[in-house]
Amino acid sequence: MGLHRLTSITLGVPNVKETAEYYTSFGLTPVGDGTRFATQDGGEQLKIVHSPLRRLVELGVGVDDPDDLDRVTAALARLDVTGKRDDTSLRVLDPNSNIEVVLEIAGHVEQTPAAQEPYNGPGRASRPNGRAPGVERENKVRPRKLGHVVIGSRDQEASQKFFTEGLGFKTSDHVPSLASFLRCSTDHHNILIQRAPVDFLHHTAWEVDDVDEVGRGATAMLEDHPERHVWGLGRHHIGSNFFWYLKDPAGNFSEYYSDLDCIVDDALWKPSVVEGARGIYNWGPPLPPSFITPEDLAALMTGSHSAR
Ligand SMILES: [Fe+2]
Repeated sequence: MGLHRLTSITLGVPNVKETAEYYTSFGLTPVGDGTRFATQDGGEQLKIVHSPLRRLVELGVGVDDPDDLDRVTAALARLDVTGKRDDTSLRVLDPNSNIEVVLEIAGHVEQTPAAQEPYNGPGRASRPNGRAPGVERENKVRPRKLGHVVIGSRDQEASQKFFTEGLGFKTSDHVPSLASFLRCSTDHHNILIQRAPVDFLHHTAWEVDDVDEVGRGATAMLEDHPERHVWGLGRHHIGSNFFWYLKDPAGNFSEYYSDLDCIVDDALWKPSVVEGARGIYNWGPPLPPSFITPEDLAALMTGSHSAR
């Protein structure tokens, strides 16, 4: 009962073909005409369409049944927001981030458990006489599922209210200088909305099996394209995930991540307020300024003003 996962996103970019090639290299599986992509466990989770400026066009959220749609419709009405309802979905626009959210009745993600690999430690030979499985792998890294999206909104507080009080996302942790991390599943976060001078997509995040897959995936992406590198390898403090961020040809960041905190019992998770640098990361290379303020932000602002 209730929201249970992100289903899919629609990404608008000026350069569809190039961007589609990037996500194929990233390890997503092209479907149909090559502008839709599937993950290993989540089915079709990405669609790329043309847009003059890069942006998140649509965000899909899975619910269990029509009662969930009724409940969200009523909650949105209390915020004076009206969506379009049919038997299996509810479509509603967040006017502040300009994202169309589609709540749809969808199956849960069933994930085959990843192998628990043996790691040696001081005084603990968990892998006697053997090399680490992570260095023996030769297969292409393929993300298991879409995990989260981070967006910028011109009115962060209003957008956050839309997602929490309206749609029913829960708050996992809060960073006063940034925003709250929100979830609609057992993942620590599925969306974060940050304050921004223009609506934009900061990044999408894709789950892989473990830290070796984060490193192997990013290394393969950078082999012939060092310009794709943004930030990594590191570990976030909030959510605990290992991360490596890369940049697609439209300027959107895409993250390989693993080992994100899971909240399987809401009553046992204590949301915390995290101040300072830990709001951004626990360890990793120095934070590049372009991670906080993407290089094309000024151009996006100019472009969105002239488009209005
Ligand atoms: Fe992330």
